[in-house]
Formats: sequence, structure tokens, C-alpha cells
Amino acid sequence: MKKIAILTGGGDAPGLNAVIRAVVKTAVQQYGCQVLGVRNGFDGFIDEGGLIPLGLTEVRGILPRGGTILGAANRGNPFVRKIIRDGVEVVEDTSNRVLENINKLGLDGLIVVGGDGTLQTARDLYHLGVPVVGVPKTIDNDIGETDFTFGFDTALNTAMEAIDKLHSTAESHHRVMVLELMGRDAGYIALYAGIAGGADVILIPEIPFHYNAIISKIKLRVSRGAYFSIIAVAEGAHPAGGDPIYARGGDEVFVPRLGGIGAEVMDVLARTCGIETRVTVLGHLQRGGSPSAFDRTLCTRMGGAAVRLVVAGKFGRMVALSGGEVVDVSLQEALAHPRRIDLNSDIIWTARGMGICLGDE
Ligand code: F6P
Repeated sequence: MKKIAILTGGGDAPGLNAVIRAVVKTAVQQYGCQVLGVRNGFDGFIDEGGLIPLGLTEVRGILPRGGTILGAANRGNPFVRKIIRDGVEVVEDTSNRVLENINKLGLDGLIVVGGDGTLQTARDLYHLGVPVVGVPKTIDNDIGETDFTFGFDTALNTAMEAIDKLHSTAESHHRVMVLELMGRDAGYIALYAGIAGGADVILIPEIPFHYNAIISKIKLRVSRGAYFSIIAVAEGAHPAGGDPIYARGGDEVFVPRLGGIGAEVMDVLARTCGIETRVTVLGHLQRGGSPSAFDRTLCTRMGGAAVRLVVAGKFGRMVALSGGEVVDVSLQEALAHPRRIDLNSDIIWTARGMGICLGDE
């Protein structure tokens, strides 16, 4: 009987439970494997009680649930595990302990579900001999070699609904509404949600913006009798010649978190356009909730494909969506270049054709 372990690492995303369920159901029912769940990312390999058996009972009813029944750890890279000791940040290398414990378990496969950071750790462990298969998760959609990561579609729908709701209040009050969206250094959520929700201005990190372009667009709309505008701004967007803005407070001692560009855009527009302007930061709402039908299906397909890779003994691979098919690619290649919006892609030309201001013209 093969023994498979699964862990979820990094920030959560809708669909993690759907992947866990697919892995367990496929592994147990189709291949008669034993499955172990690793709690809180790689930490589960060193923490007491970090491993739990996963069978059909444990995954019953979890398909529509957001979050992850296994827990996740944002700062869980075992090579540079960051902890606070006596109020001071300390970095420890726990990789030897993790490796030792993985080897003791005699795993036939370790399925790592995560974003770029977690998958980098997976790749490094693979190079140290761990039989790893990756599953690309992130609402940011910023992982290479896959058309979509899971979690993105659900986050996109949440963002689109927010834009819909802002539209009605913006129109009633003749206001400019700025909506700051997540995505780190990639503008996928802002661009897709902006198009889906009918935003007038979309600002993404891939296109440094000029305030004059935004002001002209708002004034053009006013001249056409539209006394309100909706601006979708990605948290990583920044003015030409300027830098992205980082959030203050919270636990930025560990990882700098983007945040604040929405308020900045609001301030500049309120001063220059003579129109009341408000900002909404959608934040972690984008990471929560029940996965969309697209994400549930993608997660189920990716989970099943990951088990088939383990059974076939194909390691150092990541499942990926390519032209509608779930395929596998090398983890190394997937991580070589982060995915960013191609400025010559149809979605950009579509946005421009619709008269949406992308901040550059
Ligand atoms: O990578 C996913 C993501 O939600 C980003 O879009 C965002 O910048 C970041 O994580 C927020 O991280 P945290 O959960 O640590 O606040």
C-alpha cells in the first residue's frame, strides 16, 4: 500500500479543501493508498500532532468549505523558518529535522499545495530526495506554466461583486469609488474583476500609471454625463517613477505586505477632480468563502492528477492547466518566471478597446 502525504502552505485560497478531498478520494478509492494530512504546512513534520490520517470520513462535506482543514503556515519555509523569540525575529533552519521526519515516514509521495513560496520549498526538498508533486494555489494567479491557479476564479468573483455594489452607490452619490484589490505584483484580480464589473479605470503593477491619464478619463466621463467612476486598483500598482506602497502595522516584521495605494489614489483624485472620492480595501475577503464552480472543478481535477503523478512515480512535477487540459510541468520551470500580465495579450487589447483607462494613456 502506497503512503501519500498532503500539505497546504502559504496564504489560504478558496479550493484547498476541494484539493484535499480529491487527493484522498482518488488515492483511497482508485489506488488503495494510505493518506496522511500534514498540519500547518511543513511545520506539521516537526510539530507534535502534526500528522493526521485522512480517510473518506475526514473529507466528507468539505468540498464547498473555504480555508483548509489542514491549516496553513505563511512563514513556514523550513530552510528559513521565522519565529519571534522574546520579541525578536529569529530565523532557524529546520530543514534537517523536516527531512529526517519525512524519511522516517517512508512516504511514496508528498503532495504540496501552495503558492510560489511553498512550491519553492517543495522544489528544494525534491532536490534533497523527497518525492514531491506540486499543486498551484493562489488567488494572485502569478505562477508560471499554468493558465490558472485555483482560488483565482473565486477571488475574482468576490471582487466583481464588490464592484457591482460600488457601482450603485457611486451612481447615487455622483462619486468616484476606488477599490483596492489583492494580487501582490500581478494585476490579474484587478484586471479581470475590473473588466467583469465594468470598471472605468484599472491600475495594475504591470503598467505604471500617470495620474493625468486617470483624471482625463474621469473628466471625459463627466463631459458625457456620467458623474461617477469606478477605479479598480491592484495593491501592487504604482505611479510611473514611483514605488509600490506597503501596509503599516500587523506583522510586517515577517514579510512586507502591500497596501495603501487605494487611499493614495483617492487623495490625489479628491484634490484634483473636484468630485467626492471614497476608497474600499477588499482585503482578505478575497481569500475566503466557498470556491466557485470553476475552482471546485479545477481543484478536483488537479488533486486527482497529483495522485496519478505520485502513483506513476513522476516527481519534481507540478500539475497545471494548459489550454483546458490538466497536464504536468516541471516545478523548476514553473518557478523560473513568475506569471505576469502580458501587455500584448487580448485581455489588455479588449480593455483598451472598451475605453477602460489603464493609467498609461
Ligand atoms: O498571495 C496571496 C495574498 O492574498 C496576496 O494577494 C496578498 O498580498 C497577501 O497574500 C496577503 O498576505 P497576508 O495573508 O499575510 O496578509
